[in-house]
Amino acid sequence: MTDSTYLERTGVIFRAVINDLKRDPASAARDLEVPVEVVEDILGGRRAIPPEVLERAVRVWPVNERDFFPIHDDAPEGVRIMRAAESAATTRILRRGGRDYYEYRDTAMSRVSMFRPEWIRMIQPVEDDDPDNPGVEWNNGHFLNQFTYFVGSVNYYYEWNGVRHCMPMETGDSVSGLPYAPHSFAARNGEPALILALTYGGRLLGDAQHELSALGADLAAGYAFDASSPAASSAALLRVHLDNTSCSPEELARRTGIPVPRLAELTSGSAEASAAERAGIARALRVNERDLLPIVPDEVDGVRIVRGADAPSWHYPDDSAADYRIKELAGTLVCPNSRGLEIEVLGEGRTPLRSGLHTYLYNLGPSAVDFSWEHDGRSLSRNLGPDDSAYLKPFVPHRFAVTAPDAPGRLLVLRIGGKVSGDALLEASALGPASLRRLVTDSDQWYDPRGRNPARAFAGKGGD
Ligand SMILES: [Fe+2]
Repeated sequence: MTDSTYLERTGVIFRAVINDLKRDPASAARDLEVPVEVVEDILGGRRAIPPEVLERAVRVWPVNERDFFPIHDDAPEGVRIMRAAESAATTRILRRGGRDYYEYRDTAMSRVSMFRPEWIRMIQPVEDDDPDNPGVEWNNGHFLNQFTYFVGSVNYYYEWNGVRHCMPMETGDSVSGLPYAPHSFAARNGEPALILALTYGGRLLGDAQHELSALGADLAAGYAFDASSPAASSAALLRVHLDNTSCSPEELARRTGIPVPRLAELTSGSAEASAAERAGIARALRVNERDLLPIVPDEVDGVRIVRGADAPSWHYPDDSAADYRIKELAGTLVCPNSRGLEIEVLGEGRTPLRSGLHTYLYNLGPSAVDFSWEHDGRSLSRNLGPDDSAYLKPFVPHRFAVTAPDAPGRLLVLRIGGKVSGDALLEASALGPASLRRLVTDSDQWYDPRGRNPARAFAGKGGD
């Protein structure tokens, strides 16, 4: 894929790399041992980076190959749809323990966001709910987070701290599980049994993962704080910020007025800070109060299970004129931006939905729905049939409408935070919209060689 937009984005990224290294095109070309025209052509989006230039760049500059490659935008209209027939064409049967065990089919995926949603049929039946049933083939767990939606009579098996569990699930039940917990699924009583296994990358995927890899296993393990209790995690977070500033207990006591023995209780986890103490410590260490607040995990044995019958549901936009009935499915506090929803499409879709998260959709059937959205000033629409699925970019306003009276649609939706969530979202807000636009489009040098240009509206990315 080397369309002009991709090359233009390559130019923007190349400019950012050489700006950060404080090179102009002439000095970059000298380092890279190419004529300056080659650098100018890359910057102008007129040519791809030749392999020998890339090889030289990573040899002479402190950069990595991946720093030069934009990701591919395979949803230029805001949406990428995978039809049921395309999913069916990806079918493959995977064997475990010498038997056909699962049938897998891909559903909608995009290069823009790391969803790996699979339709999976359980082939082997079980006759009981015994977690130690020898007919159940377990995996070793995996790095990706998994949100699972159940269709039919499925036994869900999961292991946590060496203890195996079996939970009989029915259509509409869902579960969120933590990475690396071994799990399995089986068809109960030989009835049809499917899952939509929506695996996706969390915040550790990608850049964080590569950084950890370069640090090595021992240093990487240092990032796992004690989260066994609120007091233990508060204490761990406090110790982190004290270490980061090399601040002594005496100095913290002077800054906060909290006596040293009391600070020792807070840093050891034998006591929890009051709200006033936390505010004082945050001010003294120049961190945000939220940086000192622990996440108190809400999983039980590594999972959060939500029964379809118990899931909270509501009409949207309001009770009296509802376009949708929305049901909240399983999720955890570790991934607060992962939102699993079942959306029942009731009407003509007068109300647009919009979210800052990446969205995955799957039509659970049996009815088709009309799916429409707005992108780049254009209104687009497609019919979404049963077992069709789609990826939708953040902030794209979209609507769902019934295709016939008395034929409500039923969609499974999983929204996930991309890389711009959590602290990155705060940084983005601090930059402001003009700087964010500049970040993704700016192919200019960080200074004007002719001298300062007073017409420039704002000072963004800086440097001397
Ligand atoms: Fe899995």
